[in-house]
Amino acid sequence: MKKVDVLLGLQWGDEGKGKIVDVLTPNYDVIARFQGGPNAGHTLEFNGQKYILRSIPSGIFQGGKINIIGNGVVLDPSLFKQEAEALAASGHDLKKKLYISKKAHLILPTHRILDAAYEAAKGDGKIGTTGKGIGPTYTDKTSRNGVRVGDILHHFEEVYAAAKARHEAILKSLNYAYDLSELEAQWFEGIEYLKEFQLIDSEQVINQNLREEKSVLAEGAQGTMLDVDFGSYPFVTSSNTISAGCCTGLGIAPRSVGEVYGIFKAYCTRVGSGPFPTELFDETGEKLCDIGHEFGSVTGRRRRCGWIDLVALKYAIMINGVTQLIMMKSDVLDTFETIKACVGYTIDGEEVFTFPYSIDDEVKPIYVELPGWQTDMTSMTSEDEFPEEFNNYLSFLEEELEVPIRIVSVGPDRAQTIIREEE
Ligand code: GDP
Ligand code: IMO
Ligand code: MG
Repeated sequence: MKKVDVLLGLQWGDEGKGKIVDVLTPNYDVIARFQGGPNAGHTLEFNGQKYILRSIPSGIFQGGKINIIGNGVVLDPSLFKQEAEALAASGHDLKKKLYISKKAHLILPTHRILDAAYEAAKGDGKIGTTGKGIGPTYTDKTSRNGVRVGDILHHFEEVYAAAKARHEAILKSLNYAYDLSELEAQWFEGIEYLKEFQLIDSEQVINQNLREEKSVLAEGAQGTMLDVDFGSYPFVTSSNTISAGCCTGLGIAPRSVGEVYGIFKAYCTRVGSGPFPTELFDETGEKLCDIGHEFGSVTGRRRRCGWIDLVALKYAIMINGVTQLIMMKSDVLDTFETIKACVGYTIDGEEVFTFPYSIDDEVKPIYVELPGWQTDMTSMTSEDEFPEEFNNYLSFLEEELEVPIRIVSVGPDRAQTIIREEE
């Protein structure tokens, strides 16, 4: 039986997952999202076109592939309709190649309002969520109050009304003013639109494909440091973003997981609140942000930027069982004279080299400094062209992380991707 390969982010999201899923898609028959929802924004660029996907898997552009929104995903019908209609308008009709799990949970209009109300109630301690209702929807799922895609086919009005009444009671208790009418109207249009798609038991379809020796790629959203268990809690998302999440989010057995592709930026970014030990508040941070165009693809927020954090990366590699690494946005460092990498932390005067329980303000990074390559890498097509200093950076990272870096990305376009030869 074939295995499911999984690609996931090792940092705080936005590592470039969408781009690489698209690059890898020709090697697979099925591409499946297993967690998260429209909090994700996965960017793809090819033939001078740019697309940002939120709920739809990044395997839709390479033709002839089955794409699946798995049971672990939370789906907002109105945002889904917008996304799918925009794709259809640009010539990508998904109705035949996109399957949606009946067990995926629906984001209700009141979930979005609750997300905003909970954030407002937290004041300065707010998480800085994407405001898409992710937390409240997963909360309803685990408290057994959720509404699932399959519900739209049976007793839908009852289930919806009960959930809405529950949410309105909470909003009343929070004294939160809101207007539901427009959101709700769009949402119901989204529900009707959803009915035009193939709503399926995706766990059956995925396992059947594996039995038929078809290959499956699971596409992660967010990143390991945003995982609800292992991320920088409570400044995390509400799902398991790690490789284990693809078992529960698709209905596959742990022994069915094959390659685990761990993707990271050559530096580090974070959007929203929460600790970030290597964050830079100086002009180097500004430079990373400017050259890397570090603005959120969903919210447009400026991303916080800093140096690569190998303590956190090693932790992420361990939790996920990463078998191959993919380094993104190498070109963003092209003009830097020197590059820093955090190899440890000082916490209360003590040096720490394993990822601690908490990474709050007391954590000070210990850096190693490496020479930059100061060469434009954006038009390189082979690793033979890599400058010596860049090769040194790669070797340094591989030695520290103990996993090979198999793909290097030197620009946002599909073509700006260099697959390294295995030794
Ligand atoms: P995802 O959420 O992990 O799919 O990543 P995002 O799409 O949110 O953010 C990655 C951003 O970096 C997007 O704007 C991509 O177009 C861009 N990008 C991806 N790879 C590279 C790269 O190698 N170099 C540069 N300069 N930009 C890249
Ligand atoms: P992709 O898949 C970066 C962050 C939010 C916030 C926290 C919780 O594009 O990498 P949520 O709305 O999930 O309750 O917000 O998680 N966050 C992301 N940051 N990339 C993402 O997705 C993110 N999805 C959520 O900014 O800090
Ligand atoms: Mg993103």
